[in-house]
Amino acid sequence: MAFKKVAIAGATGNLGPHIVNELVNQGFEVTVLTASGNTSGLPSAIKVAKVDFSSQDSLVSALRGQEAFISAIPKHEDQPALIDAAIAAGVQRFIPSEFGSNIVGNENVRALPVFAGKVKTQEYLRAKQDQISYTLLTNGLFLDWGIGLGWLINLKGKTQILDDANSVHSFTLLSDVGKAVAGILNHPEETKNRGVYVQTAETESVDLAQVEKNAYAELSKENGDIGSAMLDFVKISIFKDGYGNLWNEKNDNELLGVKGLSEAEIGDLIAKYF
Ligand SMILES: NC(=O)c1ccc[n+]([C@@H]2O[C@H](COP(=O)([O-])OP(=O)(O)OC[C@H]3O[C@@H](n4cnc5c(N)ncnc54)[C@H](OP(=O)(O)O)[C@@H]3O)[C@@H](O)[C@H]2O)c1
Repeated sequence: MAFKKVAIAGATGNLGPHIVNELVNQGFEVTVLTASGNTSGLPSAIKVAKVDFSSQDSLVSALRGQEAFISAIPKHEDQPALIDAAIAAGVQRFIPSEFGSNIVGNENVRALPVFAGKVKTQEYLRAKQDQISYTLLTNGLFLDWGIGLGWLINLKGKTQILDDANSVHSFTLLSDVGKAVAGILNHPEETKNRGVYVQTAETESVDLAQVEKNAYAELSKENGDIGSAMLDFVKISIFKDGYGNLWNEKNDNELLGVKGLSEAEIGDLIAKYF
């Protein structure tokens, strides 16, 4: 049976409002645990519990009667105290503040110093799974947040290509992370004590040297007819180093009346594609 009464900590950050909005839209009873008491930007159909996160009594009394507890806090190493309070309050499911890289399924990620608090939380949850169940959600980079950082595309400055050749990556929109959390709460048995994975999209890194080789091979196969090789040759002209495809420092924008986009206009442009 779905968990309907849910509490969340970290509801006011980058991710929290997307989870809260989806849960409220789907009819969950949402209680926001907050130290600051600030719930601006959150829907009105929530209950607010002002808590002292350093006091177990305060946490337990806010969590009593809740079926699931979602943590979206940035201080991952603080979560064992939240788990203990959830157990003491009789909460059945804990969803820790994962929401990113594949810590649950990859040793290399697990070894990165930045994730020590998340690893510790996962280990703590496994040790306590006879007292509270858990679900670990892996969604990769937040797609829209990553665009905001200029990691995936940056129309204003330089886009950073952070890729190994031949690698493929999963990304998830913040709103889809909210949907996935609701999905976990709607499917308690299927998601019990395991990692779950979601993605909105995947990207791949392309080896342009290989693209160029294939384009010439295709061209000779077709006896010089550009046909199917056309787009690959265009890609090379646009993206491959050594083909003079950057003119940011010397261009005729001013003379010809072309203006760069403002930050707001870039936002509008990107928003059209979501
Ligand atoms: N995959 C990605 O691309 C990506 C990107 C960013 C973050 N993340 C992950 O998403 C999760 C949420 O990150 P975020 O950026 O949304 O967090 P955030 O914006 O830094 O903070 C979330 C909220 O947590 C509350 N908070 C802060 N410290 C707390 C503490 N010690 N105890 C209890 N509440 C505390 C604050 O709200 P109040 O005090 O007002 O209640 C704050 O507004 C993290 O696990 C992070 O690693 C993933």
